[in-house]
Amino acid sequence: MGESVRIEIEGKTYELPLIIGSEGEKAIDINELRKKTGLITYDPGFGNTGSCKSAITFMDGEKGILRYRGIPIEELAEYSTFKETAYLLINGRLPNRAELNQFSVLLNDHSLVHEDMQLFYQNFPRASHPMGILSSMVNATRSFYPELQTAEEEINITVTRLLAKVRTMAAMSYKISRGHKVVYPRSDLAYCANFLNMMFDSPVKPYVIDEDVVRALEVFWILHADHEQNCSTSAVRVVGSGKVNLYAAISAGIAALWGPLHGGANQAVIEMLTDVHASGYKVSRLIERAKEKQDPFRMMGFGHRVYKTYDPRAKIIKGMCHKLLNKLHMKDPLLDLAMELEEIAMRDDFFKENNLYPNVDFYSGIVLRAIGFPSNMFTVLFAIGRLPGWIAQWKESLDDPDWRLSRPRQIYIGSVLNHYVPVDKRK
Ligand code: ACO
Repeated sequence: MGESVRIEIEGKTYELPLIIGSEGEKAIDINELRKKTGLITYDPGFGNTGSCKSAITFMDGEKGILRYRGIPIEELAEYSTFKETAYLLINGRLPNRAELNQFSVLLNDHSLVHEDMQLFYQNFPRASHPMGILSSMVNATRSFYPELQTAEEEINITVTRLLAKVRTMAAMSYKISRGHKVVYPRSDLAYCANFLNMMFDSPVKPYVIDEDVVRALEVFWILHADHEQNCSTSAVRVVGSGKVNLYAAISAGIAALWGPLHGGANQAVIEMLTDVHASGYKVSRLIERAKEKQDPFRMMGFGHRVYKTYDPRAKIIKGMCHKLLNKLHMKDPLLDLAMELEEIAMRDDFFKENNLYPNVDFYSGIVLRAIGFPSNMFTVLFAIGRLPGWIAQWKESLDDPDWRLSRPRQIYIGSVLNHYVPVDKRK
């Protein structure tokens, strides 16, 4: 018998199991709570609820720690590639040389998108947001690639297909939205360089691959590859718990990521800084607005549900931002504004008391702008980066003996018994 805790409810004592994670986090197992006590718990936003046991990502929001499969994010950002990190997340360990080569071959083999899918793209209105297009197209992919014979084959090929095709789809949506010819993937280019080439190569201006730019995107994607049970990952797990196919579950994750309080914040930060720059008002005005209780405005790129200190990913991306702009001999007035804003916010009592520090989205948009991405593609780039995490979490849920259909309860606060009144008798 493991450890347990005792709780007292209305004079009666109940014993509930205590779960202890490998890094020492403790949780009360309330599986039997309703059966034993007749009570449920109330936890809006699930801030105190562990929805699963997971061996993929560890984060400590108080200390600013993030590790994938035990490896610190700082080491992965320094030494790994996005492809290798994706393998690590999905398979639970780093690949050896032969496995990595085999993975590259598979990603290359599956990188083409069915030609008929181009017709779908052509018919989206030009002003459509690429996140809406990507979510729809990932879901539609199931129709082009029906279910395979065995469960194992279906999982392995679907995972590879998604990783390989999602960047082709993302680049296609950008090219088509601009009225340009689609650029096909190339077998001689590695994962990130291939994507950059599909995005920016043109018959009139061949794209020149710059290794520092490739590295910047590589690091951006590594930093976004997983973040345990965030909003979009939970969406993937919840939708997946109905045993739907992986394309549909990932499509739900993309839709969840789109929101400005989640992945859409990287676009919202740049729009906020651009507004300040264009209107010429001072950044201190943003700080005042963020503090104003009646004002719904939130400082985009600040705050996090779990990190109550500086987001470790934001530290890395901030350094990357300076490095890339120096290398490209670029000066971005939005970077100056962002630094000024951070400096003022870090001295402000409201930000200090509420533990509001820059999150990963605060500086990432400046890196992406420097590479040449338009702001409406920022969240799509986040989605490509988060894909290995979504897949790893979904795969883990398939093998989890405790896994059940997601179905929370509620506290009903509506009318009590209220009989039907025929239409002619209603007031
Ligand atoms: N600007 C102004 N006030 C804020 C901000 C912000 N960015 N973030 C939190 N606060 C306030 C809250 O309103 C709350 O005030 P209250 O107690 O008076 O109601 C207080 O600070 C504490 O907030 P938390 O409870 O710690 O925040 P919560 O966990 O609910 O929200 C969230 C986290 C949604 C990320 C929030 O900080 C936010 O909206 N940030 C801006 C959007 C953003 O950058 N999102 C990206 C997050 S990272 C990611 O998803 C990839």
